[in-house]
Amino acid sequence: MAPVHAACALLSLAPLLVLGVPPIWTQPEQVHLSYPGVPGSMVVTWTTFNKTETKVEYGLLGGRPFEMSAKGDVTLFVDSGVEKRKMFIHRVTLKGLKPAATYVYHCGSDDGWSDMFTFTALNDSTSFSPRFALYGDLGNENPQSLARLQKETQLGMY
Ligand SMILES: *[C@@H]1O[C@H](CO)[C@@H](O)[C@H](O)[C@H]1NC(C)=O
Ligand SMILES: *[C@@H]1O[C@H](CO)[C@@H](O)[C@H](O)[C@H]1NC(C)=O
Repeated sequence: MAPVHAACALLSLAPLLVLGVPPIWTQPEQVHLSYPGVPGSMVVTWTTFNKTETKVEYGLLGGRPFEMSAKGDVTLFVDSGVEKRKMFIHRVTLKGLKPAATYVYHCGSDDGWSDMFTFTALNDSTSFSPRFALYGDLGNENPQSLARLQKETQLGMY
């Protein structure tokens, strides 16, 4: 009986342990890209719970890693919930990118870097036509289109 009880106690604790993990205060989260409408540029945006520096280190795929770096701005965001949770939104604009070249980058600061990611700068050819994947509210249970979107993105289709 005792081992069963112990197992039950452990199982019922498991969700608490997961929920109880504190955030890593200086670690970038929610990294995303946007195109600011200026050829040869790309904006990297992310959040942290504590205020940190705002840096992106990047380089051409296959070149010297993190050969270049750029700094940006941070703004405080306070959500409208009762807890008035604070987070910091970081934004860096990369400029002078080589058209259609793929770059490897990470973002953050010396207090914590994101994973490494890649992006491809916009192709400046007049005959270039981009392909977009538009989606919304994919869901977490039975996400029919998720695997396909992941694979096709990894294949460079969008
Ligand atoms: C994060 O900010 C809180 C509140 O300002 C502070 O108490 C804490 O020491 C900071 N943590 C880190 C890792 O900087
Ligand atoms: C840019 O787009 C043009 C037209 O689609 C294509 O021919 C060219 O190969 C592309 N450039 C690069 C570097 O991929």
